[in-house]
Parts: sequence; C-alpha cells; structure tokens
Amino acid sequence: MGTKKGKHLKWFGIGKILPFLRCVRGKLFVMIFFGLVGSLTDIILPLFQRYALDHFVGLGDFHVLVVFLTLYILTILVAAGSNYISCALATIIEMRVDRQLRQTGFQHLQTLSFSYFNQNSVGYIHARLMSDTSRIGSLVSWSLVDGVWRISYLIGGVVMMVALDAGLAAMVLSILPLLVVLFAIFQKKLIRVNGDIREVNSKITGDLNEGITGAKTIRSLAIEEKMVARFRDVTGQMRQKSVRASRLRGLFAGTMSFASSVALAIVLWKGGYLAATQIGTFAVFMSYAQGMMEPLRWLVDIVSDLVTTQVNIQRFTGLLEVKSDVTDTPEVIQKYGDTLSPKRENWEPVKGDISFRDVTFRYPDGQETVLEHFSLDIPFGTRVAIVGETGAGKSTLANLICRFYEPTEGALLIDGRDARERSQLWLRDAIGYVLQTPHLFSGTVRDNLLMGSPDATEEQIWSALRTVSADEVIHRLEKGLDTDVGEGGDLLSTGEKQLISFARAILADPRILILDEATASVDTMTEEKIQAALETVTAGRTTIMIAHRLSTVRDADMILVVRNGKIVEKGSHAQLLEKRGYYHALYSRQYEEEATARILA
Ligand SMILES: Nc1ncnc2c1ncn2[C@@H]1O[C@H](COP(=O)(O)OP(=O)(O)O)[C@@H](O)[C@H]1O
Ligand SMILES: [Mg+2]
Repeated sequence: MGTKKGKHLKWFGIGKILPFLRCVRGKLFVMIFFGLVGSLTDIILPLFQRYALDHFVGLGDFHVLVVFLTLYILTILVAAGSNYISCALATIIEMRVDRQLRQTGFQHLQTLSFSYFNQNSVGYIHARLMSDTSRIGSLVSWSLVDGVWRISYLIGGVVMMVALDAGLAAMVLSILPLLVVLFAIFQKKLIRVNGDIREVNSKITGDLNEGITGAKTIRSLAIEEKMVARFRDVTGQMRQKSVRASRLRGLFAGTMSFASSVALAIVLWKGGYLAATQIGTFAVFMSYAQGMMEPLRWLVDIVSDLVTTQVNIQRFTGLLEVKSDVTDTPEVIQKYGDTLSPKRENWEPVKGDISFRDVTFRYPDGQETVLEHFSLDIPFGTRVAIVGETGAGKSTLANLICRFYEPTEGALLIDGRDARERSQLWLRDAIGYVLQTPHLFSGTVRDNLLMGSPDATEEQIWSALRTVSADEVIHRLEKGLDTDVGEGGDLLSTGEKQLISFARAILADPRILILDEATASVDTMTEEKIQAALETVTAGRTTIMIAHRLSTVRDADMILVVRNGKIVEKGSHAQLLEKRGYYHALYSRQYEEEATARILA
C-alpha cells in the first residue's frame, strides 16, 4: 500500500477527522476562546507603552500612574491566565483525541480478517496506529490554538495600525504583494522537500523494522553488510534532504526578516513626523508592523505541515475504511450479536458436523486456485487426518473451517447450515485450534491458558497440561505457571509454545478441535506421549489433525491424502497401505528416512 505523495491541500480530507473531535467539542471552544483572549492582550499591551510614552515622559502624575499600573498588571495576568488555560486544554485535547483515534483504529483492526494482516506488515499497521494518530492529535490541539492566536493577532495588528494612522498603515501594507509572491515560491518548495523527507523517513522505518524483526534471518544468511549498506544509503538520503529543508527554511526566515526590516524602514522613513509629536504612537506602530511578520512566517510553515498531516489523516481513515473479507451480515449480527457484544442467549449449541460443499478457493491476494470443487463430509465425532506434502493445501482447509477466509465459491456447512448464516464468533467459540505457527500473548503462562476459559480451576489447568504432557515443561520453567512468556511468547521455544497452546485449546473443551501440525516442533518423546493421549483428548469432538509426519495419524478414523488441493486418496491407515498408492509411497519414504535418522543418532 504505497503512500500517495500529497502535494495539495484538500480541506475535505482534513474534514474526515471531525467526528473524532466530538468528544472534546466543549474543550475546543474554550481553548479557542482563550486563544482569542490571549491574542487580544498581545494587541493591547503595546497600547500601554504608547500611553506611558505619550503621558508620563517628563510628567509625573502619580494618581494616573496607580490606575495605569493596576490596569497593566491586570492585562498581564489575563494574558498569563489565557496562555496557561489554552496550553493546558491543548494538552488534554491532544491526549483525548489521540486515545479516541487509537481506540477506534484498534477496535477496527479486531474486525479485520486474516488476509488484511497477511498483506500489511506489523510495522505499517503500527505506524498507522501510533504516529499518524499523534500527528493528527497535535494538529487539532497545538496547531489549532497557535493558528487562532497568531491569525487573530495579525488581523488585530492590521486593524490597530489602520486605526492609529491609516495613511502610514497603507504604506506598510503595500509590501504585502511582495510577500504573497515570496510565499508562493517558498510554499511549493517546502511542500516538495517535506514530501521527500516523509518518503525517505518511511523507508527508514521500514528498513529498521525489517532489521529488527528479521535480525535472526539476516544473521543466518550473513547479509549484515548488505543490510547496513542499504540502511546507510537511506539515512544518507535523509541527511541530504534534511539539510536542504533546513537551508530552505533558513533562507525563508532570512527573507522574512528582511521583509520586516523593509516594513520598519517604511515606518521610519514615512512616519518620522510622528516621532516628533507622538513618540508613543510611533513606537507602537513599529511593534505592530514588526509583529505582523511572525504570523505570516508561521502561515507558510503550517500550510506545508497541513499537507503532510493530510497524508496521515488519509492513511488513518483509509485503515478505518478497510472492510474485512469475512463479515457477518446485518441479519446475522441482529440475531447473534457482534464481536464486542455477542448475544449468546440466541446461539444454538454447536454439534460439530463439518461439510465442504463444492468449495473453490483462491487466497484474496493469491493467483492460483488452491481448492477446486472440493467436497467433504466430516460427521461429528470423527477423527480426520489430513496428510500431504508442503503446499498441498492442508492449512488452507483448516483456515476455511475456522472461517479465517470465506470460500470463493461453494459453501462450508456447520451442522448442515451454511456457516455464513451464523456469526464468526459463534463458530470460533466452538473451535479449538493449535496452529502451525503457535502464538501466545504477552503475559504469564497462566494468562494464556485462561484466555479461552477464564473460569478454569487450578486443577483443570493442570489436568489439561498433563494431557498434552506439558506439565513437565511448566515445572522446568523458573516461575511455573507465572512465568512471563514475552512478546508473542518469544521467551519460549516453538515446541513449548505449541504445547501451551495445545493445553489452552483442550482447556476450552471445544466441539471441534483443529491440530495443524500441532506437534511438529515437539520432541519425539513428548510427541509419542501426546499420541497416546489423543484417544482421550479427541473423545466427544470432531477432530481435524493435519500432519506432516505420517506416523502420527495411524489411528485416525479417516485419512485424507491431499495433493494440489484435491483429495487423491481416502481411507484408514491399513486400507491406504493396502492400496499401494501415493500414501504408501509417502509412508515408505518417511519410514525409511526416520529409520536412517534413528540409526545415525
Ligand atoms: N496466506 C496466503 N496467501 C496466499 N497464498 C497462500 C497463503 N497461504 C497459503 N497459500 C498458498 O496456498 C497453497 C496451499 O498452502 P497451505 O494450505 O499452507 O499448504 P500446506 O499447509 O499443505 O503446506 C500454497 O500454494 C501456498 O502458496
Ligand atoms: Mg500448513
């Protein structure tokens, strides 16, 4: 998903964040109000200077002086107060909006299907949820209050100049056309450079991400040098662009201070006559003329900032607009509820019959058809084993049963009814699975085991662990059940993760149990123990066992041999061997390999 290079400002795009501001609407108004008050005091303060210069110099009326000082101090207090309030509110608004955006984004992510996470990297999603949202948050708080303050100061300053001396004001403002031209030139360049920087920056983030998540692979392929060179290249680009941007900004700041000197020169040249009679008015006029330039400089910066932030907004709202490939229809949600508020009282109990009806399937981003007119009936209570070479389509069958993907054509029936007639949660609640790549959540082993069955007792936990011979593993861990598993369970070995997710699945007591090479990373001894326990584990459930090692499926009721998404042979172990077909060939080959391995060991 490439980021579009934003070059123009589209107010419509920025308007898309308005719904997220609803939660801070009142605070926004108060913040804007105090921004206006603050800028008003900024405009008023020079007037005190004028009064003092015009009336106190040479004179000494103490009575007026007391009133003057009181008013002056009051104005300064109001200025300080509004400054404090608008800053405090900006902080609060920034955090609230941030949280609101992240929460909405996170909730939306929960509804997306497997295929979204297949196509978008963790780094990409992470950036949408963290950096895009924080840019948006600071736009609607700090940039907004800054803008209100500066622009109203600009307007107020111009009004004051006109009021003080319209003729002189007209002369100062005559440099405006020149400023507009300067604006247009710098604006374009700044936007381009900022766009380039953004692009290089996202490349750096991507490389960093890959460097960290792929650190082990990089090490094992011995391509560190290549990766470092690539990283040096993009960071070099970054430096170059940043230097260019700074130079441009410096040039612009210089030009602006030149323009402000010109404005001052005009005041001095044409307004000299004022100095003779009204030194106060003259001084104030100078401070307005000079103060005008700062908001103007800011305007150029903020416009190019807005163009950048617009991209953040586009990407974030784009994430919210992604629709899941697997969705529940409104009728289904009406009856069964959605993920966040399931209506369990309307759920029919799951029996556990599974049927594929003429299913054709292609992955949303895949070219080839994995399954073609695939049909299969698995009655409740059956232990089905699916075997076949890598890439044959075994995991795909498991994905379809779990409804991680929807059939492209045909239907998956659960208990005789199209799975789409019930909610995803209804089905998932009845399924326990141990996937080929087991995943644990950060937290303790116990947290993970209780994930699908929060009410399980200590005894039930240990019984589930014993069933899959995971109890010894837990005993070996330093803190037993309270051991921290790390992010994604990374502090444990794949085998350990597999055993724990196996125990987690059993603890939830599902009607349908799916084991996708569930013991592939477990040592042979433990695997044999699990093998022996399978009889009890699978009793009273429909079980789909996907196995690479054929020795582990001998006891299944039905073995399906899959090749290129088709069932080529079907039957019990004994029947299939007798047939002397593909299964027989696979089995003999593996048997020999294993025998050789044992001898060598
Ligand atoms: N997430 C995916 N997106 C696109 N294609 C996929 C995906 N997962 C698997 N495939 C393709 O589908 C085919 C079957 O894969 P899979 O079901 O994982 O095989 P198995 O589990 O038997 O090794 C393979 O050709 C694979 O390239
Ligand atoms: Mg697989």
